[in-house]
Amino acid sequence: MILPSKHSAAAVNIFTTMSSLARKENAYNLSQGLPDFPIAPALSDLLKEATVEGFNQYAPMPGLPELRQNIASSFNKRYSSNYCAPDRVTVTPGATYGIFTALTTVLNKGDEVIYLEPAFDCYVPAIEINGGIPVRVQLDAQKNFEIDWQQISDSITPKTKAIIINTPHNPSGKVWAQNDWDKLAAVIGHRDIYVISDEVYDTIVYDGLQHIPGFLQKNLEGKVLSVYSFGKMYHITGWKIGFVIAAPAFTEAFRSIHQYLGFSVNTPAQYALAKYLLIADQEASAIMLQAKRDLLVSRMQSSKFRLNALSKGSYFQLFDYSGVSSLDDVSFARWLAIEHKVATVPLSAFYRVPPGIKQIRLSFAKNDDVLNAATAILGNL
Ligand SMILES: Cc1ncc(COP(=O)(O)O)c(C=O)c1O
Repeated sequence: MILPSKHSAAAVNIFTTMSSLARKENAYNLSQGLPDFPIAPALSDLLKEATVEGFNQYAPMPGLPELRQNIASSFNKRYSSNYCAPDRVTVTPGATYGIFTALTTVLNKGDEVIYLEPAFDCYVPAIEINGGIPVRVQLDAQKNFEIDWQQISDSITPKTKAIIINTPHNPSGKVWAQNDWDKLAAVIGHRDIYVISDEVYDTIVYDGLQHIPGFLQKNLEGKVLSVYSFGKMYHITGWKIGFVIAAPAFTEAFRSIHQYLGFSVNTPAQYALAKYLLIADQEASAIMLQAKRDLLVSRMQSSKFRLNALSKGSYFQLFDYSGVSSLDDVSFARWLAIEHKVATVPLSAFYRVPPGIKQIRLSFAKNDDVLNAATAILGNL
């Protein structure tokens, strides 16, 4: 018996494909956004401490109170605000789950959800599995993925229930300014349209820019659910733990689904993160990763790859390879991994229909040795 797919995306996505190709070919893996450097020793110690201290049973459904309190305090401090409180924070098993559950919370069958392409790969399947209809708005790849607000406005219909946005943006590294939020609020106006705001790279912003969270937008009060990932924040993607922040009513609705979906999140990890938030240097990650971005970009400068725009946040930098090859991006990425032992992600992985753009995404959340070795290869092409 074969079960029909509940979504229109590939059964195995390109990230999994490229990472397994990297393993098979023993290639330098600049494809998936998983760091290859060690995590903070204090965080490992706290995880050990949690299990020894007996934090091994189900945590409360919304998350450990200490963790929710410390998340709220750390956001309030960062944004000089008093918006955050434990009743607005829900701990989740990762951001992907947060996005999925937010969609389950707001969607009824046939509701439309606007998303901006190139888009992280889980959005469309999550919309479809939840009975929604994805409505695509393309960002302008030739103009550093500029947002066409008129197109967003034109895409709104009486069936529009939500819009998914992502800042800092994977794959372009573009970071939303206050102006972008103001335009979104103006486009939505008084309509009941929810904003699911994927902010997993919130602490990884470069060149003195500041991330601006969605939940703090006064003109969108009550409509935004912001999604975060400790995986990205502290380079612990394998822990699969994150959280969402939203107004109390939205939070309550979200939790009413979460209690029957994930119900409770890894308790030792919550204990460790609650304590780690009190001692972590929130800027360290961005400083370290900005140096890695700069290393990658400077070593690629003498290559035939071209940089269209410098990444301002996230783990990623896009490069145009049209000076190296006329292959389409999927064939080029496969060729690069098999023949030259460098695994990357083709930009078309972020599109429903390949747009024919010759760009690949490189992750620089890697050891300098790996970045040096991989760029030495790329520089010789
Ligand atoms: C934009 C974006 N959103 C969400 C996620 C998923 O985060 P998590 O591992 O916490 O589910 C990723 C991971 O790469 C991402 O890049």
